[in-house]
Parts: sequence; C-alpha cells; structure tokens
Amino acid sequence: MNAITRIAAAVSLASLLPLALTSNIAVAADAPSKGTIEVLHWWTAGGERAGINVLQKLVEKDGYTWKDNGVAGGGGEAAMTVLKSRAVAGNPPGAAQIKGPSIQEWGELGFLTNLDDVAKANNWDKILAPQIADIMKYDGHYVAVPVNIHRVNWLWVNKPVFDKLGIKAPTTLDELYAVSDKLKAAGIIPLAHGGEAWQDSTVFEDLVLSILGPEGFHKAFVDKDEATLTGPKMVQAFEALKKLEGNYMDPDKSGRKWNDATGLVMTGKAGMQIMGDWAKAEWTAAGKKSGTDYECVPFPGTQGSFTYNIDSLAMFKLKDPGAIAAQQDLAKIALEPEFQTVFNQNKGSIPVRSDADVSKFDACAQKSQADYKAAAAGAGLQPTMAHGMATSPAVEGAVFDVVTNFANDPKGDAKKAAEQLAKAVMQ
Ligand code: GAL
Repeated sequence: MNAITRIAAAVSLASLLPLALTSNIAVAADAPSKGTIEVLHWWTAGGERAGINVLQKLVEKDGYTWKDNGVAGGGGEAAMTVLKSRAVAGNPPGAAQIKGPSIQEWGELGFLTNLDDVAKANNWDKILAPQIADIMKYDGHYVAVPVNIHRVNWLWVNKPVFDKLGIKAPTTLDELYAVSDKLKAAGIIPLAHGGEAWQDSTVFEDLVLSILGPEGFHKAFVDKDEATLTGPKMVQAFEALKKLEGNYMDPDKSGRKWNDATGLVMTGKAGMQIMGDWAKAEWTAAGKKSGTDYECVPFPGTQGSFTYNIDSLAMFKLKDPGAIAAQQDLAKIALEPEFQTVFNQNKGSIPVRSDADVSKFDACAQKSQADYKAAAAGAGLQPTMAHGMATSPAVEGAVFDVVTNFANDPKGDAKKAAEQLAKAVMQ
C-alpha cells in the first residue's frame, strides 16, 4: 500500500466532518492583511494556548492574518485525523503541527513545500543541531520548522503535599511505590492520570526507559529488536504499568484530559503526575512556581536519560501568493530568538536553537537543558515513542492499542502483552 492509499484508507471523511467544522475559530476578517496563514494544531489546553498565542501575535505583527485551527485532544490524534481528511479533500492548511518520522510520510505524498530559501536566509543549518535539522528535511530540503524540545520523562510533584507528609520526590521505582502508598494512606490520589491511549503509553515508555535503560529503550523502539521487545525486562515494564494503573491511579481516570490530571496535582487532590513538560505550562499559566508549588524530577530510574519530543510545523504547498508569504514569515519567526524564548517559557519546553540562552528560564527548564546536553554526550538521548519521534504513526498506533488494552484488562497477561508489543513494533 503506498502512502496516499494508507492515509485515505485510514480516514472516513463523513465521520470526521463535524470535528473539522467545530474546530475552526473565526478570526476578524476586516483588517487589511498581507496574506492569511491557517495553522492546524492541537495546542488547546491553557498552557499550550498561551504558547501558540505568542506565534499568532508575531505573525499578526508582521501584517498577516492568522486563521486558527486548533483541534482539541492531547497528543494530537484528533488533529492528525482532521489533517488527513483535509489533505485527502485537497484542502490542507498552510501549516500543521507534524513531527518526527511522520514528516517523511507527508513529504513522500508530495504535500509539503520547500522552505530552503527561508532556511538559508536565516541560517537554520547553523542554529539547529544536524540531527534535528535532518528530521525537518524531506529529500534533503527543509519542509518543516522545529519550535522546541520537550522532555517526556518527567515526574511532577505537589511540593506542599509532599512536605506535609514528610516525603521526598522519588528517585527509584521502589521509592515511587513507597511514596504512593503514603499518599494513598493519607487519602490523596498518588498519581493523577487520564486513561487515554497516549497517556497510558507515555507512562509505559517511562517505565521501559527506567527498567531497560536508554540502550534497551533504543533497541526496543528504534532498532525494533524482538528479543528486547519480548524479553523479561519488557514483561517487568508491563507489570509495573499494571501496578501503577491498578493501585495508584484513581478509578475516575478514564477519558480524563491530561491537563485536568495536572489540575488534580495542583489542587492537592493528587500527589504526582507522570507527564512531559507541557504539564509545566499548566502550572506556569496558573501562576505556580517550581521549587515552591511543585517540583520537577526525572521519572524515577531515568536520571541521565532524556526522551525528546520536538514539536514542529510542516508547511503545505499553496497557490495564493499572500498565503505563501505568510507561510514563509511564520517559518522565519518560529526560529527567531524572541519567539523561541517567549514561546518556550509558556510551553514548558526549551528552545531548539543550539545557541539559546536559558538563564532567564525557570529551574525546570535549566535542568532540562543541562540534562539534554549530558544525555546527548552518551546513550541517554532517545526519541519518544509515545509522541511520534521514534516510529511511524502506524507503529505508534499499534503500540498504543497493545498498551491501553493491557492497562485496562484486569486479567491482562504481561508476557502476552510483550509479545503483542513486538508484533506491533515489528509490523
Ligand atoms: C505532545 C506535544 C506537546 C503537547 C502534548 C499534549 O505530543 O508534542 O506539545 O502538546 O502532546 O497535547
């Protein structure tokens, strides 16, 4: 099956229509404009919105019109479904949040435009690490612009709750279980979580990183090594997932949004959340401070490792000259120091520019950058599986099914799940 049939097959246009219609937010049309850029993204939670608003303002400042197409749904599954239906209908937006290996698929389909001129004029080859630049290129040409580096392997802790109970942020899985028992005994939900496939897989990949180490993580999700995928440590990772989901997450988690889970930690109803640093954006948007209100620590047992998640905007081929100018302007702005600083301070991530100065960022961002550099010096730097950096969307979707089905099946067998995982990854 070629890529276009794959995308077409995955999409039922009729079922998607209501979603596509309701997700368009009207923008004032009467202001004189040099051109319009429509941006499809899934940054609709409070902290995420604060981030994308920075881009919108800068684009508007340059005299262009921003047409917002924010499709709600953490992790972007719903947004990608809308994007596919738009593309199949021959009506893609000018820019869309697409990342990792998926950029190659869209490039292969012939949808993406060449950004080499804007890249050259703005020195992208100099300001981006070569490995990051490569992800943004299809067939040697820039087709997308990266905006940030998120770290997935974080644990978020409510500091006053921990202080009151006299407990410390856990550094190992055994400590995680021990503090969870204490929180539970105090009537507090140990782990705030939303039972959605991508959230389950976010927790699962942290457990894989913790139990198999970065080398094992790489062998499993990047090298697709069968022995690693079905091995005893992977079985252990599934068992640990069952333990967390069954013992330490509340029964109302089903379908809960990730940012509502963050809210539970913020209000002290829950003690911790396992989530990437877009969760920090929620704390920031609520005026909370790291070190006082919350703590960020690497997911227990993953110190020294860094699962990276690079958000990027891919640009689609357009005909209207005004829209093309707006698209080029957006691409230029996205890597400029001003945007990189303000956006990432709001978004919870760190700048993607190699020359970025994070001295004015909060302690979590500074730790993130230091840990990124340390991890990059060895084997610790790994692409996240749960957020589309390690595998194709098809593999990711298959893994999500295995992990979520296991997490929700009280009788789920960890050994069988590992075998199913291998099938999903090696397809
Ligand atoms: C990730 C994305 C982040 C954040 C998160 C929750 O996949 O890279 O920027 O938005 O989903 O929606």
